[in-house]
Amino acid sequence: MPKYKIALLPGDGIGNDVIKAAMIVIDKIKLDAEFIEAEIGWEFWKKEGNPLPDRTIRILKNTDCALFGAITSKPKDEATKELAPELREKGYVYYSPIVRLRQEFNLHTNLRPCKAYKGNPLNYRDDINLVIFRENTEGLYAGVEYHPVPDNFRKIINKHRKMRKFEKVLNSDMAISLRIFTKKGCQRILQSAFDYAREHKRKSVTLVEKPNVIRETSGMMVTEARKMKVKYPEIELIEANVDAMAMWLIKNPQKYGVLVASNMFGDIISDLAAQLIGGLGFAYSGNIGDSYALFEPTHGSAPKYSGLNKVNPIAMILASRLMLEWLGEQEKAEKVEKAVSEVLEEGKVKTYDMGGNSSTLDIAKVIAEKIHE
Ligand code: IPM
Ligand code: MG
Repeated sequence: MPKYKIALLPGDGIGNDVIKAAMIVIDKIKLDAEFIEAEIGWEFWKKEGNPLPDRTIRILKNTDCALFGAITSKPKDEATKELAPELREKGYVYYSPIVRLRQEFNLHTNLRPCKAYKGNPLNYRDDINLVIFRENTEGLYAGVEYHPVPDNFRKIINKHRKMRKFEKVLNSDMAISLRIFTKKGCQRILQSAFDYAREHKRKSVTLVEKPNVIRETSGMMVTEARKMKVKYPEIELIEANVDAMAMWLIKNPQKYGVLVASNMFGDIISDLAAQLIGGLGFAYSGNIGDSYALFEPTHGSAPKYSGLNKVNPIAMILASRLMLEWLGEQEKAEKVEKAVSEVLEEGKVKTYDMGGNSSTLDIAKVIAEKIHE
C-alpha cells in the first residue's frame, strides 16, 4: 500500500494546466503516494448547484491531504444567473468552495511564503523572504452575515449609543458582516507564527492589525500576541497597523520575516507581498489544520489561458513543495526547492509573465530534470 493518499482537485481553467505540471515534478521525486482525483468548481455549481459536491468531501475525508489547482468564483447574484435553468429559484446559494473547505476541515492556519528567487525578473528586490501566517477560519470570513438584518439583531444594535444614527434605517436597507475572533483562534495562529520564527531563526514576528479602531477584535489579537511573546524571549514582536504595513512592505520589505494577521487583513497583505516577489505565478499557500491540509497556488482559474499550456506553474510546484514538507518528506521538499531556485537563477526557461515564451509543461520538465536521486 502506498504511504500516502493525496486528493487532486484540479478545479477550473488553468487549475488543470498547473496540476499537470506539478505532477511531472512529483513523479520525478518518486513520492510513495496514491493520487485520487476529485471534482470541484464552477461546472458543478452550474450543473448541480454545488461547486463542492458531497462525493468530493467524502474523498477528501479518506485522504491525508489535498493539492488544489484553481477555481472560478463569482459574487452570489452573478453565480445564480449561471445556474442550469432547472435549478434556478430552488434556493441554491453560491459559497466559495475554498472558503468552505477551510471551514469544514478546520484548516485554521494559512501559511503563505513569499520569497524572492534569484534570477526572477519580476522581483521587486532580491532580498525579500517573508512568511505570512493568516488566520483562516474566523474574522470576516466566519460567514455570519445579514441582509436584511433580522429584527432581534436590530434590537441589540439599536441599544448601542453609537448606532442611533442608524435607528431609522430599514432592515432591508442595512447589511451586516460580523468580524468574529476567538481567543483560541488568536492563540493558535500566533503560536504557529512564533513557533515558525523560532524554528527558522527569524528575529521578529510582526502582528498586522488595527487595534486603534477595531478595538475589540484587533485588541484581542494584540493582547494575546503580547502574552505569547513572553514565551519567545529571543523573538521581537512588532505591532503594526494594517494600513501602515501596506506602505512599509513597499518601502522596506526586506526588514520583515514572519507576519501574522487575521483572515481579511492576511488576505490583503498576502497579495501585496506576493506582487513583490513576482505576482501570481509565485504566490502559493498551505491551508493547514490539526490533521488535514490543502495546498494551493493563490491564483484564480484564468479562463482565457485555460488549456493553452501557457501559464506559470511555479506557484503550484512550490505548493507541492510545501505539501512535501508538511508530510515530513523534508529531503524531497528540499530537492524541489533547489530545482526551482536553480531553474530561476539560470533564467533559460521563462513563461510569458517573466518575459519568455516557454510553456507550462516546459518549465515543469526542466525543473524535474534538475531533481536527482
Ligand atoms: C485567497 C483568495 C480567496 C480568499 C478567495 C478565492 C475566496 O483570495 O486564497 O487569498 O479570499 O481567501
Ligand atoms: Mg486572496
